[in-house]
Amino acid sequence: MEAQGFNNFRVIEKKQESAVITSFVLTAADGVSRLPFRPGQFLVVRLALGGGVTALRNYSFSGDAGDSSRLRISVKREPAPFDRPELPPGQGSNYLHDSVQVGDLLEIAGPAGTFILDEQSPRPVVLFSGGVGLTPMVSMLHRLSRSSARPVYFIHACENGAVHALRDEILTLASLRPGIAVHFCYRNPDADDHANAAFHSQGLISRETLQGLLPLDDYDIYLCGPRPFMQANWRLLRSLGIARERIHYEFFGPATILEEDDVMPEPPAVAPTTVTSPTDSALTVHFLPSGTRVAWDRNCHSLLDLAEQAGLSPSFNCRAGLCNTCQVSLREGSVEYFEEPLDTPAGGAILLCCTRPTTALTVDLSGC
Ligand SMILES: Cc1cc2nc3c(=O)[nH]c(=O)nc-3n(C[C@H](O)[C@H](O)[C@H](O)COP(=O)(O)OP(=O)(O)OC[C@H]3O[C@@H](n4cnc5c(N)ncnc54)[C@H](O)[C@@H]3O)c2cc1C
Ligand code: FES
Repeated sequence: MEAQGFNNFRVIEKKQESAVITSFVLTAADGVSRLPFRPGQFLVVRLALGGGVTALRNYSFSGDAGDSSRLRISVKREPAPFDRPELPPGQGSNYLHDSVQVGDLLEIAGPAGTFILDEQSPRPVVLFSGGVGLTPMVSMLHRLSRSSARPVYFIHACENGAVHALRDEILTLASLRPGIAVHFCYRNPDADDHANAAFHSQGLISRETLQGLLPLDDYDIYLCGPRPFMQANWRLLRSLGIARERIHYEFFGPATILEEDDVMPEPPAVAPTTVTSPTDSALTVHFLPSGTRVAWDRNCHSLLDLAEQAGLSPSFNCRAGLCNTCQVSLREGSVEYFEEPLDTPAGGAILLCCTRPTTALTVDLSGC
């Protein structure tokens, strides 16, 4: 993964793609810099929300990686949770939708992420998304439609045509060559969707739908969408005999590891334990709130690795100091940064993915 500092990019196009998703096309403010990325990766944007408040947000590239002079992201306007309408809506996405206009400058870093199309693989590809999880898939489809002969199955599930973004672009890309199948599944199609035959199946993606779409084969599957979508479809794919190493996935929130066969586990309730391994016992790390104590293992790359090795599941995303998802409170002790983060947290907070202990530590994973 390449990682660079923040640079100014200018918004050169803003386009409403659906009732909830708007795309922004960005180009380097100096007119010459490029941000080469691989299909599936994301960028980090630092948003000045006003009043001295900034926010870091990640957005997958949704455009053609072959043209790094035009970077496109497609952003869903995040409302307040439906069961808690009293909460404020998503800060970053609403700021982008409402306040960022063509001509404005945005601070961008990246590219980041390991959810990347494997272009060396000869296997057929399944691009399987729900909601705004389609963005990295569209970028992958750009590459696959132009530079590959591999069979591609683009499967997308969303509510209905009103919120379905980039529909025409997907169909156009699929028509560029034979061997690209598209399937749209609408949960609640409206009258226009029925009249226009805009979807291929209705309701939720079912086992029968997948069996009908995918002939027996050895696929590379890329999966991205909201948490319930990921849980249901991971289980479905595994039940169809697809090996876990063939299923690549990305979460658009703090990442969780999808390791179980039939359910995506909730973060485990870990009983206090003491783990011993080939370690430096002077550098004991005490993780709260579980109470887990582990000695620092010099084979670990970072405190994030150490926590995971101890059976804990802290949130993370880029694992490279770019997104601050792994920020936690340092209660006692000190750490060193072996990689300089883009935005070093202040006030007793540290980033797990790019630090190692220099003394015994107590860190609180319940967060800042
Ligand atoms: C690798 C990666 C790639 C991504 N790519 C995309 C992409 O291509 N397109 C895209 O649209 N998004 C993408 N995202 C998601 C994106 O980074 C943001 O998380 C998303 O836009 C929401 O940010 P926000 O600032 O609008 O919401 P936030 O302000 O972070 O709020 C999130 C939610 O929390 C609710 N909330 C507010 N206050 C509280 C509270 N006190 N308690 C509980 N809930 C509260 C808000 O109402 C909102 O629903 C990606 C994320 C990752 C990690
Ligand atoms: S996971 Fe992104 S900064 Fe640590």
